[in-house]
Amino acid sequence: MKTMKAVRIHSYGGPEVLVHEDAPCPHPGDGEVLVRVHAAGINPVDWKIREGHLKEMIHHAFPLVLGWDVSGVVASLGPGVTRLKVGDEVFSRPEISRDGAYAEFIVIKEAEVALKPKSIDHVHAAALPLAGLTVWQSLFDAGGLSAGQRVLIHGAAGGVGHIAVQLAKWKGAHVIGTASARNHDVLRELGANQIVDYATVRFETAVEPVDVVFDTMGGEIQERSWKVLKPGGILVSIAQPPGAEIAAAHGVRQAFVFTQPNAAQLAEISRLVDAGKLKAIVETILPLSDATRGQELSQRGHTHGKIVLRVV
Ligand SMILES: NC(=O)c1ccc[n+]([C@@H]2O[C@H](COP(=O)([O-])OP(=O)(O)OC[C@H]3O[C@@H](n4cnc5c(N)ncnc54)[C@H](OP(=O)(O)O)[C@@H]3O)[C@@H](O)[C@H]2O)c1
Repeated sequence: MKTMKAVRIHSYGGPEVLVHEDAPCPHPGDGEVLVRVHAAGINPVDWKIREGHLKEMIHHAFPLVLGWDVSGVVASLGPGVTRLKVGDEVFSRPEISRDGAYAEFIVIKEAEVALKPKSIDHVHAAALPLAGLTVWQSLFDAGGLSAGQRVLIHGAAGGVGHIAVQLAKWKGAHVIGTASARNHDVLRELGANQIVDYATVRFETAVEPVDVVFDTMGGEIQERSWKVLKPGGILVSIAQPPGAEIAAAHGVRQAFVFTQPNAAQLAEISRLVDAGKLKAIVETILPLSDATRGQELSQRGHTHGKIVLRVV
């Protein structure tokens, strides 16, 4: 059997359960493609799954390859694949219940794959699918953000936040972000209209009422966010399901988003990148064998932009 290098876990646990080892090279089945991974993005969900936080929700088989953000080249096609061909440069946020992209190869359903932006390399393309889809599904699908509305983005300098700032600007919204002071210049460059230093200012005292709050934090940040919403506004969280009752008590709406694969939305994101409207900031690039260090950095909770593993 052909083997590949992969970073896998054989049980839930701390960073020490990540093993860089030989693993069987997967084969594409019906409607699937084999992708030669060039780069794999690291996201907080990777170490949350490694620690077992999602085990009630997603049933994984061990050993498990982590990592669900990928850019690479189609290496072979399973039966029934019609849209893609061998050699296509693609990116994806694949289904999270299956083996991920900390590996030389990954099998992905064709329906979850889009052509990568032509104007950027694989490392930057691998930083986009998960964050890009998260923002699209949160701000646009759930939040209904439209031109002229005001949006507050918590954690605006993070992997998801810095994409949210740009997509909200592209939509024509007035964008307010929270971030520590060292990230303010870059957020201004990305188009934020107002930036609040969460370390020194309580955002609810500095922000005029908004139509949409994008909550990437949960906890007390979410609790304090209700009062900055306009009547009928909406809090969209990706961190913690907000309660329907508390939203109703504040006269506003709420939604929780768990990001889903979506090739059509990825294609839109790809077009926006090539049109110069959207870019991923990559803070740290590491080799595949350094996935442990990448996850440790992510877990500190102060990533600016993204952390990406370069595989080729
Ligand atoms: N539900 C879903 O489908 C989904 C999808 C994607 C992500 N998520 C979750 O969303 C969260 C954010 O993801 P991410 O990839 O953006 O994480 P990340 O890249 O680690 O970014 C976290 C950011 O939060 C900022 N931050 C820390 N404490 C803060 C505070 N009190 N107020 C405001 N900002 C603060 C940090 O900025 P400073 O350096 O300025 O402190 C950092 O840039 C994670 O919990 C992740 O698991 C959920």
